[in-house]
Amino acid sequence: MIEIQNLTKSLYGGGHRVDILTGIDLTVPDGQFVAITGPSGSGKTTLLSLIAGLDSPTSGSIIVDGKDITKLNEDELAVLRGERFGFVFQNFHLIPTLTAVENVLLSAELNGASGAHKKSKDILGVVGLGERLHHYPSQLSGGEQQRLSLARAFVNEPDIVLADEPTGNLDSKNSDRIMDLITELHRVKRATIILVTHEAHIAARTQRTLTMGDGNIVDDVLNSNWKQS
Ligand SMILES: Nc1ncnc2c1ncn2[C@@H]1O[C@H](COP(=O)(O)OP(=O)(O)OP(=O)(O)O)[C@@H](O)[C@H]1O
Ligand SMILES: [Mg+2]
Repeated sequence: MIEIQNLTKSLYGGGHRVDILTGIDLTVPDGQFVAITGPSGSGKTTLLSLIAGLDSPTSGSIIVDGKDITKLNEDELAVLRGERFGFVFQNFHLIPTLTAVENVLLSAELNGASGAHKKSKDILGVVGLGERLHHYPSQLSGGEQQRLSLARAFVNEPDIVLADEPTGNLDSKNSDRIMDLITELHRVKRATIILVTHEAHIAARTQRTLTMGDGNIVDDVLNSNWKQS
């Protein structure tokens, strides 16, 4: 479970304070599939970065399984990120000098996973890249690169997957395919998934939609049509 209490983030620039997050309270039960939506600049990426421990808040707490991650040092955070979290970034963050299988293997090996090679190949098969193992990122289409970044996020079977606009750069066919995959991985792996999206039809495919506005959550709706298949 993720419990966020009175989370704020302010930055100081040009002699004045900018309040980016203004006191967020949020509880996400284990295994929930959540979308965060809202206008540009409303704080979606900032909130996701704080949950990931990639940025620190001005005040407030983020409790993951009873532990306040805002109190951890960099080493403790690195362990938590490696063992518990998977990340999917909008611009993929793939390593250009490594092939597809090597990109996934790097995440698996960094985490000391036994049978890392087999795991990496298996997950690439799941995302439909079984025939692209030895291609470099530059030799893959945008949709394929995003599927590669999904494989990398899921290879260690994380408990929590954080995805910032995973369909943001893709056409509707590829974006549907990515959502099919995330839905399938959620079903099989039972991870908590928090996904940022601008698009209502993407949010509609999740279990719960949080809408942000001006640095806070302004709407929180459970999708009554959503079914765990
Ligand atoms: N390093 C920074 N310095 C100053 N302001 C920042 C910084 N990072 C973010 N902001 C501001 O914080 C606000 C929230 O940014 P954030 O990236 O979280 O928005 P977002 O909801 O993800 O937007 P988008 O949909 O465009 O990705 C914005 O007004 C942004 O300009
Ligand atoms: Mg953003």
